This record gives sequence, structure tokens and C-alpha cells, in this order.
Amino acid sequence: MATNVLVAYGTTNGSTAQIAETIADVLRKEGLTAQAAAAGSVTTVEPYDAVIVGGGLYAGRWHKDARRFVRRHRRTLAQQPLWFFSSGPLDPSASERDIPPVSSVSKAITRLDARGHVTFGGCLEEGAKGFVAGMILRSGKGGDFRDFSQIKTWAAHVADELGDAPNRTRST
Ligand SMILES: Cc1cc2nc3c(=O)[nH]c(=O)nc-3n(C[C@H](O)[C@H](O)[C@H](O)COP(=O)(O)O)c2cc1C
Repeated sequence: MATNVLVAYGTTNGSTAQIAETIADVLRKEGLTAQAAAAGSVTTVEPYDAVIVGGGLYAGRWHKDARRFVRRHRRTLAQQPLWFFSSGPLDPSASERDIPPVSSVSKAITRLDARGHVTFGGCLEEGAKGFVAGMILRSGKGGDFRDFSQIKTWAAHVADELGDAPNRTRST
């Protein structure tokens, strides 16, 4: 059986979900089994061989669903190959340099011995929920800064690292 990977995400406006779906897609193309799921909908992580957790950034923090997910499943996650990603900056900075994790994510990386973290650019477009989102959009600071080639490259790198897992089968 192929290595089974969960990509759990915390999102308010859906853009982090699309990143998670893209990552799961790349993992499948690389011969793994992968599924993206809303972090709040996952009841157990036991069936998975590896987990990736991603959250949109809100006021300097990871999305609450991603935080809760990590808290709820921490004992199992500590035993699994684990990666994190964040999505936030509404400018090209995340494509240009490494943006370190926010402090709670940084602590979780240490505590759970996660193998890596990356910050991807964010996305805020017309129709986003919330008063502050509306203000940002009205000030002309919205847009889609997700770099899907960066996202796919990172996902392929995770697949490579999981390639050493004994139960992985390549589809090609
Ligand atoms: C109210 C609000 C607060 C935000 N705070 C941050 C922040 O602290 N850091 C950051 O990099 N991006 C911040 N952003 C940008 C979001 O992280 C970005 O839009 C992200 O892609 C949202 O993910 P989602 O669509 O999955 O909810 C904020 C956006 C809003 C609307």
C-alpha cells in the first residue's frame, strides 16, 4: 500500500484549502495516497503515515482550526512524519525569501519535531468574510499572491522525503 498522507487545513476564505488540494494532488502524482481535508472535520489521524498541516494567517496567528487540530492530535502527530505550512502575506515576499513561522507554529515545530515549515503567499479577494478583510480590499491591498509553482516544488520535496518510507509505491 502507498504511503497515506493527510493534508489538513484551516481556512476562512478558502485559499489555504486550494493550497492543500494542490499539495495533495502533487503527492498523488508522485505515487503516494493523499487527501486534503478541513482540519476541523478530521476525527483521527491514526490511519495516516504522514501529516501536513496548513493554516491561513490571521492577526499574526495560525487559523484557529489548524491550531486546534495540532492541539487535539498532538500525541499521534508527534509519532508521525509531520510538516507545516502557513499562508498569508498579501505581497510577493513569500516567493522571494523564507518567512519564518509565527511563534505558536514555531513552538509546535519544536514540540512535535516537525520536519519542515514554509510560508506561502496569501490571497484575499472580493467576497472575503469580515470587516477587516473588506477594509484591506478597499485599500487596494488584496490580491492573489499564492505561487503555485513554489507550492508544487515544496510538495514534491515532501514526497521525496517520504520516498524513503518502506511502503511507498510509485504509480509510474
Ligand atoms: C483580518 C485579516 C487578518 C490577516 N492577518 C494576516 C497576518 O497577520 N499575516 C499575514 O501574513 N497575512 C494576514 N492576512 C492575510 C491572510 O492570511 C490571507 O488572506 C490568507 O490567504 C487567508 O487564508 P484563507 O483564504 O485560507 O482564509 C490577514 C487577512 C485578514 C482578512
